[in-house]
Amino acid sequence: MTPVQPAARTQPSEATRNRVTLSPMTQDDLDAVIAIEQMAYSHPWTRGNFRDSINPLFEAQCLWLEGELLGYFLAMRGFEEMHLLNITVAPAHQGQGWAHMMLDALSLWSRHAGAQWLWLEVRQSNQRALHVYERYGFKQVSIRKDYYPAGRQQREHAVVMSLKL
Ligand SMILES: CC(C)(COP(=O)(O)OP(=O)(O)OC[C@H]1O[C@@H](n2cnc3c(N)ncnc32)[C@H](O)[C@@H]1OP(=O)(O)O)[C@@H](O)C(=O)NCCC(=O)NCCS
Repeated sequence: MTPVQPAARTQPSEATRNRVTLSPMTQDDLDAVIAIEQMAYSHPWTRGNFRDSINPLFEAQCLWLEGELLGYFLAMRGFEEMHLLNITVAPAHQGQGWAHMMLDALSLWSRHAGAQWLWLEVRQSNQRALHVYERYGFKQVSIRKDYYPAGRQQREHAVVMSLKL
C-alpha cells in the first residue's frame, strides 16, 4: 500500500504517550478506521475487509488519544506465528513513534499467544514503512512479484519480512 504524504513532526511528550490507550477494534470503530484508511492509502481496505477481520482469528487493535483514533493494526494468527496485515497511523500523527508503539503491543500480544515469528508484506516503494520495520528488527526474507495492484493495470512487488519474537 502506498503511503500518503508522510510529515516530519516532533515527538509527543511522555505525558501524551502515557495517555494513549489500546482497545480491541469493534464494529463501532469502523467509521473512524475507514476515514484514516482512505487518507493513508492509495489502495485502501474496504469496510467489508475490516468487518470480516473482527473475529477471534485476528488481533485488531485501535490506538486512542482521548477519543481520537491515532492508528490501528490488524494481524492474523497462524501456527506459532502472526501475520501483520495492516498497520496504519493517521496522517496527522505520523512520524511520532506511534507505529513503534503498536509494534511493541503486537509483539507482546503475539508472544503471549505463543507466536515465535511475526510476518508481513510491504510494497517495495513504501520506503517509510520499510524503514520503520527494519529499524524495529524485521529482516527482508523474499520478494513476492507483482503482489499488489498499482494503478493503470500495473502491479508492484511485495517485500516479505519477518521478525523473530
Ligand atoms: C508506515 C507508518 C505505519 C509508520 O508510522 P509512524 O508512526 O509514522 O512511524 P514512526 O513514527 O514509528 O517512525 C517513522 C520513521 O520513518 C522515518 N521516515 C519518515 N519518512 C520517511 C521516508 N519517506 N522514507 C524513509 N523513512 C522515513 C522517520 O524518520 C522515522 O524513522 P526514525 O524512527 O529512524 O527516526 C505510517 O507512516 C503509515 O501509517 N503510513 C501509511 C500506511 C502504511 O504505509 N502502512 C504500512 C503498510 S505495510
